[in-house]
Amino acid sequence: MFDTMTLTKIVGGFCGALLVFLLGGWLAQVVYGTGETAHAEGEEVHQAYIIPVEGGEGEGEPEVSAEERLAEFQTAFASADAAAGEGEFRPCAACHSLAAGENKTGPTLAGVVGRPSDSVEGYDYSGALEQVVDVWSPEHLNFFLEAPQDYVPGTKMNFRGISDAQDRANLIAYLQGNPG
Ligand code: HEC
Repeated sequence: MFDTMTLTKIVGGFCGALLVFLLGGWLAQVVYGTGETAHAEGEEVHQAYIIPVEGGEGEGEPEVSAEERLAEFQTAFASADAAAGEGEFRPCAACHSLAAGENKTGPTLAGVVGRPSDSVEGYDYSGALEQVVDVWSPEHLNFFLEAPQDYVPGTKMNFRGISDAQDRANLIAYLQGNPG
């Protein structure tokens, strides 16, 4: 059975502990300057030193120059396998036909390699492609197919891209073999 005295002791003990805890926190703030109140409003907290990270500004991945990316593609394209590229065309087929004159969501890709951009009769282009590409060279196709929306801002081709350079090279070789 609790009597009043025991209860008082328990409550008293608890309050005492709480007081010590709060006092300790306050003291730590004053001594070490931790906690929000230690910094006046608007006062900037400066980092004492900056640790240099390899790759500089980039978000982790080292930057590969445009020349290196082009060289990587050209090497891949020199040994491209058009037959392997047929498999790469599968996701494209949802929106593109390889038959001349047949437009789907996207324009026909018959003879697209070497064809001026935005040039298929009767297809309603966004107009974004011709801002970036004059003629669909293998190089333009390479960068477009890697990241369509990055290479041609505003294009209505809603495809996220093919990340592997050899896969793109094979696909472009396959397209080249389909003049329509
Ligand atoms: C979700 C549908 C969709 C998919 C998937 C798609 N495309 Fe497209 N593509 C389009 C549309 C729409 C356009 C027209 C873009 C514009 O006018 O901005 C286009 C345009 C193009 C063009 C420019 C043609 C021209 O006449 O200028 C090429 C080249 C092309 N696509 C290749 C491909 C290839 C290769 C693939 C597969 C790796 C692919 N696309 C996947 C919808 C798609």
